[in-house]
This record gives sequence, C-alpha cells and structure tokens, in this order.
Amino acid sequence: LVTAGPTQEPIDPVRYLTNHSSGKMGYAIAKVCSMRGAEVTLVSGKTAIKPPLFVDVVPVTTAREMYEAVTGRSDRQDIVIKAAAVADYRPKTISEQKVKKTDGELSIEMERTDDILKYLGEHKRANQFLCGFSMETEHMLENSRKKLKKKNLDMIVANNVKVEGAGFAGDTNIVTLITGDDETQLPLLSKEETERIMILAIDIGNTNIVVGCIDEQKTYFIERVSTDRSKTELEYAIVIKNVLDIFKMSPKELEGGIVCSVVPQITQIVKLAAEKILK
Ligand code: CTP
Repeated sequence: LVTAGPTQEPIDPVRYLTNHSSGKMGYAIAKVCSMRGAEVTLVSGKTAIKPPLFVDVVPVTTAREMYEAVTGRSDRQDIVIKAAAVADYRPKTISEQKVKKTDGELSIEMERTDDILKYLGEHKRANQFLCGFSMETEHMLENSRKKLKKKNLDMIVANNVKVEGAGFAGDTNIVTLITGDDETQLPLLSKEETERIMILAIDIGNTNIVVGCIDEQKTYFIERVSTDRSKTELEYAIVIKNVLDIFKMSPKELEGGIVCSVVPQITQIVKLAAEKILK
C-alpha cells in the first residue's frame, strides 16, 4: 500500500487548506512496485497525475478519509509506504455557509488530525514493513531519526526541502534512506527516472533474431544475430550476453524479458537462455 499526494481540509464550501505535494513521488513508487510484481493499492489525495496501470487506486480528499482508507486496509499489507503529505491540523469546524469577509482579521481555530503513520507503527503486524517520509528544513537527519523511532518505522525517506533539486513539486529529489542501523544518501534522482523499467526484448524470426533493450518510451539498442536452429541454450545465452556487453548493458539493470517468436523449435531454447542471463 502506497499513499500519495496532499490532503485538503475544508474551511467552508468553497475553501480548503492544503500543501504543495504533487503526488509524483508516491505515484512513481506505486508504479515501480507494480511493475516489479507487487499487488499495489494507492491511496491518493487529489493530484493531477494519471494513475498508473494495474494499481488499485483509492481516491481520498481529507486526512480523515486517508486515515479510514489506510487503517481499513493496513492489516492485509506486507509493505506500507507513506509518501502522502498529510495535514497535521484541520479547521475545528467547517462552516456550512461561505465565510463572508469583514473589516477585521480572521482567525481559524485548528485541531490535530490523526497521525496515520503513528497508528500503523502502533498496530504493525509481524513482518510488516513500514516506510515513512520526512520533509525537513533543518536538522534533517536528527529529526528524521526521531520520527523513525517514535513512529516505530522500518525506514524513513528524508529530504531537506531547502536543498536545490529536492522537495515537493519538482521532478527530482535528493533523499537519504534511514533505517535502524543504516543511512544511505542517494544522489539527485529524477522522479521520472525512478520509473524507468528496462526490459530485454528478443524477436525470433526465421533468418534473424533481434535482441534489444527497451523501456516504456524508448528503444536503447537493437542488434541482429542469425537464427541458428542447431545452437544450444548455453550458446544462445552467450550470444545474448555478448550483445548486452557490446552495449554496456548489465543484466542487473534489466527487470525482465519478452520473447516473441515465429520459430517454435527454438522459442523455448532462447527463452531459457534469456532467463539464465536475467537470473
Ligand atoms: N503522516 C501521517 N499522518 C499524519 C501526518 C503525517 O501518516 N497525520 C505521515 C506522512 O505520510 C509522512 C510522515 O508521516 O510519511 C511525516 O511525518 P510527520 O511527523 O508528520 O512529519 P512532519 O509533519 O514533517 O512533522 P513535523 O511537523 O513534526 O515536522
């Protein structure tokens, strides 16, 4: 289960309080998890992003709705990643009518929302992995470590909004992954780039086999080798590996493979050869 985006806390029928979260981080995480084989539920505040395919999207608006949506599903989740920017406070009362302006100042009384992550930490079931996000403007590591402990998390993804390239609305982020005993600072990464899933693609024809690497948007390279019905699985594995080597592509960067074939006799041989490399 992944949460994403901002919450909106209504003041009256036409106004609400919110934050700058775009939802990009949570949507990218949901998509990558789904493409790696997870069954993903995405509980999302209002965003302008197209939901990823094959992900069960649960739309919510307020912190209260997100609390209900998440806690109602949390005991069935192996991993919960809380990338949403949930409001910590909401207006104590929601005016039924539009609040009219007056000459004087206006104060709105606010009350605390439920801390969803804290609830999850307190009700964590065996082997459940809980990951929170922490956005700070100062003392990032120290404050994030405190949150990790206080909310009983397995990992917290910390970022300093004041650092260029980090934060809410942009397409990049600089984060530090913090666990109980480890700290890993990642380089500047594009939120888009984290979505890139590279696939080995093999097309077996009667005279040529085309080997290439693709992702959703781009073909990185393709190369032709001749179709040889006498080659063994190992020999084909060497051929495919050589093609990858020439283009400096490590099998570790590949998430999976697709084999298309019009030559039934060697379909299985090439498939097993590709699997050998991907493993
Ligand atoms: N979070 C939550 N429920 C809330 C508020 C926050 O689940 N009502 C989650 C967020 O999704 C995020 C993490 O808690 O994963 C952020 O931790 P939090 O302590 O709320 O951070 P800040 O709001 O930045 O804390 P502070 O105001 O103390 O800086």
